[in-house]
Amino acid sequence: MSKSRKFMAVALTACVLGAPALAGQRTDTKSGPRYHIGRAPTADEIRGWDIDVRPDGQGLPEGKGTVAQGEKLFMDNCASCHGEFGEGSGRWPVLAGGKGSLTSDNPVKTVGSYWPYASTLFDYIRHAMPYGNTGSLSVDEYYALVAYVLHLNDVITDQNFELTNRNLATIKMPNEQGFVMDDRATSEKSFWQKDPCMKDCIAPVKITGRAVAIDVTPEDGKKSRGVE
Ligand code: HEC
Repeated sequence: MSKSRKFMAVALTACVLGAPALAGQRTDTKSGPRYHIGRAPTADEIRGWDIDVRPDGQGLPEGKGTVAQGEKLFMDNCASCHGEFGEGSGRWPVLAGGKGSLTSDNPVKTVGSYWPYASTLFDYIRHAMPYGNTGSLSVDEYYALVAYVLHLNDVITDQNFELTNRNLATIKMPNEQGFVMDDRATSEKSFWQKDPCMKDCIAPVKITGRAVAIDVTPEDGKKSRGVE
């Protein structure tokens, strides 16, 4: 092993072990030890990653696209998995329909039946789709695709509607009211105890019925273990 390689091996071991022993290394009390690896990202690099969008539209890039433009893009880039009408091809996810099904025995969670904000659709598709080819489309194409997926869900009904960074946050999703703020800090406060019971908390269990009496055991002629 050459001298410089030997030094690299020592340096790497020190990094792996998190040993703050390398010459010149200082321990910053605020942010922990520093290893002198990498560099601060440039403003451009941060901009490239900082693409999240909030429900009020903050973070949306400038751009626009119509439902009709989105339809063509969807056929070319999305329909092979999600179906031409968002019905899902094979076992790929369904993107449309399911309205009113959330309280049924078979809830179908789609953009239209479940998602509370249209901004999430832009954020999600731009981050993650087309599956396996993320980031391959332009900002305008993403606006058009979002418009088309909203059209498939009857949220946008006009084929000529142009979705932009200015009007996206004004679109109301059907299930927005189905989401509530987490209020457990007040609504469940009465259950909170300073010294919660940690041992033998339930009084001796009393058997009030048997499964066999309500006919839920399999009728294969054998007795289920533990149930008479
Ligand atoms: C190769 C198959 C494939 C293609 C092509 C594809 N998707 Fe997807 N899509 C998926 C899979 C798989 C998921 C679920 C991913 C997950 O849950 O991690 C998904 C999830 C989604 C979701 C979220 C569904 C939900 O309710 O959770 C949306 C919206 C979506 N895709 C839109 C698109 C759009 C728009 C395109 C075209 C630009 C596209 N997809 C192309 C496979 C695909």
